[in-house]
Amino acid sequence: MKKIKLGRSDLNVSEIALGCMRMDKLNAEDAAKVIETAFDEGINFYDHADIYGKGESEKRFAESLKRTSIKRDDILLQSKAGIRSGFFDFSKEHIISTVEGSLKRLDTEYLDVLLLHRPDALVEPGEVAEAFNELYSAGKVKHFGVSNHSPLQIELLKKYIDQDLIANQLQFSVMHTGMVDAGIHVNTKNENSIDHDRAILDYSRINDMTIQPWSPVHAEKGVFLNNPEYQEVNDKLTEIGKKYDVDNEAMAIAWILRHPAQMQVILGTMTPERIRNYAKASGVMMTREEWYSIYRAAGNIVP
Ligand SMILES: NC(=O)c1ccc[n+]([C@@H]2O[C@H](COP(=O)([O-])OP(=O)(O)OC[C@H]3O[C@@H](n4cnc5c(N)ncnc54)[C@H](OP(=O)(O)O)[C@@H]3O)[C@@H](O)[C@H]2O)c1
Repeated sequence: MKKIKLGRSDLNVSEIALGCMRMDKLNAEDAAKVIETAFDEGINFYDHADIYGKGESEKRFAESLKRTSIKRDDILLQSKAGIRSGFFDFSKEHIISTVEGSLKRLDTEYLDVLLLHRPDALVEPGEVAEAFNELYSAGKVKHFGVSNHSPLQIELLKKYIDQDLIANQLQFSVMHTGMVDAGIHVNTKNENSIDHDRAILDYSRINDMTIQPWSPVHAEKGVFLNNPEYQEVNDKLTEIGKKYDVDNEAMAIAWILRHPAQMQVILGTMTPERIRNYAKASGVMMTREEWYSIYRAAGNIVP
């Protein structure tokens, strides 16, 4: 498994991470198998949020980790704060109390990374800065980042925050390509030129922030892999995958990793066999022509 640096930090992270949003659905024995399988495949990074399974996912992770021989210091833990029931909350009090809750549920003294989950329209960046300073100086959070944020929202935070923002978790997959569409169609009158993401891809590269794509195998109608609604893209992934000795499923992950922005994909599967298969995507270096042909097979046009 290839390792990359997360943003400008010294964190050496696997380019594929395991998202634990659905871990609450597993019993501790099965969750331990999932964690162990990921670790054996070279995945050293586990993504959480306070709200996943209403806190149960973080708890299940901690109790399951104890059933394995993996030590806390062998892995990196990321969690998130800021989403509440029907609203967003980046107040100092909420950020700090959320981290305290995650530390307790994850049974750890520190988070390697804390992300602000989804932009709070009422954000007071000075308050966020105070919360980050307190958490950082207490050793409770080592690094900070955001999720679903635009470049200017990040700039606003940066005006106040002392720590570097190293990652931005965003939806991205071969079936959710807004952040590349706008760049490809710039200055055309095509619908795809509409920049829903405010040039976040270029911004992230310029500022060395790692993009962490979430929902890597999801489309509007659910999982697109082996789904007849998305036949053409599956056929193309299968066809090109033969050259690299991987199936269409691993190729969907390889397509994301081929982007030179060096993203860190967050897998959501809780099935050990799928984790093993997706891990094969690391190291597949498809050609530029193949990357674009998959992009076109997903229904996108190239001007
Ligand atoms: N920052 C954010 O706003 C945000 C939003 C959503 C998610 N996330 C994070 O990103 C992670 C990944 O998101 P996600 O869970 O939506 O990603 P995903 O990997 O696209 O979806 C995972 C789901 O798809 C199923 N699946 C995966 N591969 C499959 C296959 N080959 N065939 C059939 N079904 C398959 C999984 O089922 P099985 O488990 O049965 O394999 C699971 O239910 C989450 O765990 C979370 O950590 C972040």
